[in-house]
Amino acid sequence: MQRDDPTKPDRNLALELVRVTEAAALAAARQIGRGDKEAADQAAVDAMRHVLDTVAMDGVVVIGEGEKDEAPMLYNGEHIGDGSPPLVDIAVDPLEGTRLTALGMPSALTVIALAERGAMFDPGPCVYMEKLAGGPDIADLLDLERPLPETLALIAQRRGSSIRDITVVMLDRPRHHEQMAAVRAAGARVRLIVDGDVSASLLAVSENAPVDVMWGIGGTPEGVISASAIKCLGGQILGRLWPRDEDERRRAVEAGYELGRVLTKDDLVQGEHVFFAATGVTDGDVLQGVRYGRGEVATTESLVTRTRSRTVRRISARHDRAKLRELNAGFDI
Ligand code: FBP
Repeated sequence: MQRDDPTKPDRNLALELVRVTEAAALAAARQIGRGDKEAADQAAVDAMRHVLDTVAMDGVVVIGEGEKDEAPMLYNGEHIGDGSPPLVDIAVDPLEGTRLTALGMPSALTVIALAERGAMFDPGPCVYMEKLAGGPDIADLLDLERPLPETLALIAQRRGSSIRDITVVMLDRPRHHEQMAAVRAAGARVRLIVDGDVSASLLAVSENAPVDVMWGIGGTPEGVISASAIKCLGGQILGRLWPRDEDERRRAVEAGYELGRVLTKDDLVQGEHVFFAATGVTDGDVLQGVRYGRGEVATTESLVTRTRSRTVRRISARHDRAKLRELNAGFDI
């Protein structure tokens, strides 16, 4: 049997990445309900960076915490790992739902995705993207060019239900008010979330989900990260860049971006060597959050995917917090 190219990520890196998201979740969970979203994010970033250093790879952060001068760690362009093959792109959202964590609200996650070098879409100056995600049985019906209510009617027909039973999950933002009204006027339902469209996208592609699609204008990094998981879970996520103002639009056009273009999950992340790991921080529809047991015990639940084999794992772990603090001096876990 011919061996794979050693520069390509053949081993299941996601199984190593889950240690990274678990560590970030355990650290962020200490900040649940304390009202300080910066502290929660910082705890997740520090823990994530600490464990990432132990992974054997030559990684570059392509989607991280921002530019080097504004982010001391996990900044875009930062090299991660011990420099040995495989060569990979890394997208991190150390804490997806900083406000959710600070306020003790549901569905905060720690997330990381990894793909072959050059495989991840670089959103350039664009902070937001319009997104539409749904499960495998309706993937072909998703379309950002068609009015959303019409797509919802097609989904209802395909699922043998009425549009009155179709639910769209979306971020609660003023920029969504018009679409929200249109969806309701068509007879469908809206489930509003405060934050966290990665979790909402994962929910929308799951079987027997309480929602049918996720729609909304949210972060471009979250779009790329969601696509990394959906490539393995099945279903589709579409994205279209959504400049916030004229200046952002001009910079995107000057940088060569085609603003009207609809990107599929395979444009957002190319190829099959794609890995994704997420761990729950607060309890949500997709993952249970960090729970504390007697003494120093904490438990975590994670979702781990590898596109090439299409394996989806749910990993429950029991952690000895005292031991972890001993091994990772300086971390409040
Ligand atoms: P953070 O927790 O990283 O701040 O992001 C949460 C989030 O709700 C994302 O899920 C979403 O894509 C984005 O923020 C939306 O941005 P905004 O809050 O600016 O509308």
